[in-house]
Order: sequence, then structure tokens, then C-alpha cells
Amino acid sequence: MMHAFERFGLLINDRIVRTPVGIASMAGIVDAAYVLRRAGHIGFAFIGGYSIDSPTILAAKSMAESEGRKEFLYDDPVRELKAQIALMAKSDVILGINLRGSSPESFRAIAQAIGDTAVYEIDAHCRQPAMVAAGSGEHFLKNPDKLVAVVRALKSEGVTVSVKIRAGVADDDRKLAETLWKAGADILHVDLMDYGSAKLRQLRNSCPLMLIANNSITSFDRMREMLSHGADLVSLARQSDEQTLAGLDAAITRYADEDGWYNSPKQLCRGGDIRSLTFCCMPVKECPLIPTLARIDLPKDDYIRLKLESVRGTKLEEGRQTCFGSLAWCCKTSSPCMFRDMTLKQTGLSKKEYMRLKRELSDTIMSRVFHDVSSHETS
Ligand SMILES: Cc1cc2nc3c(=O)[nH]c(=O)nc-3n(C[C@H](O)[C@H](O)[C@H](O)COP(=O)(O)O)c2cc1C
Ligand code: SF4
Ligand code: SF4
Repeated sequence: MMHAFERFGLLINDRIVRTPVGIASMAGIVDAAYVLRRAGHIGFAFIGGYSIDSPTILAAKSMAESEGRKEFLYDDPVRELKAQIALMAKSDVILGINLRGSSPESFRAIAQAIGDTAVYEIDAHCRQPAMVAAGSGEHFLKNPDKLVAVVRALKSEGVTVSVKIRAGVADDDRKLAETLWKAGADILHVDLMDYGSAKLRQLRNSCPLMLIANNSITSFDRMREMLSHGADLVSLARQSDEQTLAGLDAAITRYADEDGWYNSPKQLCRGGDIRSLTFCCMPVKECPLIPTLARIDLPKDDYIRLKLESVRGTKLEEGRQTCFGSLAWCCKTSSPCMFRDMTLKQTGLSKKEYMRLKRELSDTIMSRVFHDVSSHETS
């Protein structure tokens, strides 16, 4: 059987993610027991949200009492979180803890007490008035400087950081994504609301963060739509029942084994994100490639050199009879082409392996587009 890392190439918190399907938090509902009942079908889960300081604990209590909402209620967040994390110790599900706090110090204190076994997810999503008034949830989306301060506080403790946002709340989601990346965050977990895949593509084109797409992703078609517009993983909350999760897990595993690249992008001219440059031709005609290169500030000659140098010594260098003399410029396997397929046959390259090499090329393009962040930006 194919190994999960070979199949999906996903690592979170230095651990292999078995499948790109996971569970998003629901306060008062998603805890370790909830996750363990579904563990066979998921790769990751965010338990919580857990309130971690006095203002947010009081807010959770008032939400439970006056609005009848389900909440996790306790007096000692560290004890509760340690107990939940201990329950997950033997599971291969990558664990995240969705946290509601009101200051960088509160998050830092939790990280110091608990350590790096879990991913720390900042809940910048909750829109309940009591939580927002406590300086948490959506409050962070309206006050990005405070959110950045929390990211930095957590990163200074050496933990993996995810930020859970709701699309369309911040002034500019693209700018926010870029800011969070430069502040050192590792994962952007986005509830897309009604915005759909176009929003996801914007985020993919704004930062190299690992992206988790969320909201009503309950069918394989919707999952693939998210993955082909830039998502690395998808999460479910309301419909995170065993049957739905098992269906998505099985379908994406089958797709990955057949296609070779489980989250391959669409071609650029069909609405693909920056990763689609891996399938683009030479810049010789008026098509979406030219404005895209201008937008990402990649001169044509650099683009040509980048692709040719990246495939040197690999089988993508082959392809004399293809349009531009090398598979580096060739299209997705879903676009029929006898010249490409002839080359694949002659060089003994399966379509699956071709897509795997195209994925590697897209990784190189992404790291060229998003240069390493300089130290002054992360400090
Ligand atoms: C009852 C309930 C509680 C939730 N609690 C949280 C929370 O504590 N933290 C958070 O980041 N998101 C919370 N969410 C949002 C979900 O994680 C998710 O973003 C949203 O439900 C959309 O995804 P879905 O369509 O798969 O349900 C909650 C959602 C529901 C329905
Ligand atoms: S270079 Fe080719 S694949 Fe890319 S946008 Fe232009 S026509 Fe489409
Ligand atoms: S040879 Fe076929 S796959 Fe390659 S660029 Fe031309 S049309 Fe696309």
C-alpha cells in the first residue's frame, strides 16, 4: 500500500498527515472523544474552541447561560487541555487546539504550560457578541495588529500556529493572509462562508501558508473544487459524521492514487492559481500568463529560466516533439494531447509520475514567487 506521505506529501507539526480531510472545531461539541470516534477517516482535527483566560471564560459562561449555546466550561483551561491532549496521545490524527484568548500573554502562557504536541489555532472566527467584546474571535480580524501580536507570541514559544478566520470580515483578506504569513503563522484555516473558490484562489495567490478550506465541504466535487483552487486540506464541522468523512477520505485517496497530484490546480486560463504556472506554456501569445507574470513580478525571461532550470536532469526535460520542446511547458493530463502522451510513452513516464513531477515544479515556482521572509519581517 502506498505510504500517506508519498500520496499526499503533507506534514503538520512535523508529523505525516494521513489524509487531507479533517474536523473543524465546534465549541461544546468537538473534543477528543468526538475526534476519536471518527479517527479512522481523518488526518487532522481541531478540538475546541477552548477559552483560555478570564475575559473569554466569562464570555463562554454567559453565552451558555443566556443564549443556551453549547460551550466547554471549566475553571482551569490548562488542566482541561492537558486532559484532552492526553486522550489523543496514541492517535495518528494530527491534533489542533482551537483557542479563544484576549491577549498575547494568555496564548503564550498556554503554550508554555502545554508545549508543542498540538497545533495552536487562534480562534479569530467567533462572531458571538460576548466573545468579540472580550477581545477575542472576530475582534482579531478587525484588529489585525493584535492578531499579529498573538501569532508572534506563540511562535516565540516554538509551536505550530494556525489562524482560523471567516472570509469577508477583515478589511482585505489577501492583505491579512500576507501579514499572517510574514508574522510567522504556519496555517490559514478559512471558513469561506458564501465566497467559494474564487476567494480561496486569492488567498493562495497571496501567501505560501498551508491552507485549510472550510464551509459546507460535504461532497467530493466540492472538495476537489477547493483543492484545485489552492487548498491543501479541507475541514468539516456541522456535517462531520462518520459516513461523510469516510466518503471524502476514500474518494480523495482513490483520486490521488490515480492522478498523482491530489490537489492539482486548474490550468491558469481556466481559473487556476499561481501553482498552475507549472502547466503554462512559453509566454508567446496574449493569454492570462502575461498579466499573471506581471502581477507576481516575475519577468518573462526569469520565468523561462526558472522552469528550464527546475526540470534539468528530470524526465520533464524530455519532449522534443511537444509544442515548446520540453514537458516543462506541457499541459495537465486531463487535457488530451497525443504529442505529450507520445513523449511520456517513449520516456517510460506514467501520467501519474508526470503529475508528481509537475507538482515538484510547482513547489519550486511557489518558493520563487514567495521568497523567504527576511528576518526583520518576522521579528
Ligand atoms: C455549533 C458550532 C460551534 C462552533 N464553534 C467554533 C469554535 O469554537 N471555534 C471556531 O473556530 N469555529 C467554530 N465553529 C465554526 C466551524 O468550525 C466551521 O467553521 C463552520 O461551521 C463552517 O463549517 P461547516 O460548514 O463544515 O460546518 C462552530 C460552528 C458551529 C456550528
Ligand atoms: S500559457 Fe497556456 S496554459 Fe497558461 S494561461 Fe496561457 S494558454 Fe493557458
Ligand atoms: S504538446 Fe500538448 S501538452 Fe504539450 S504544450 Fe503542446 S498541447 Fe500542451
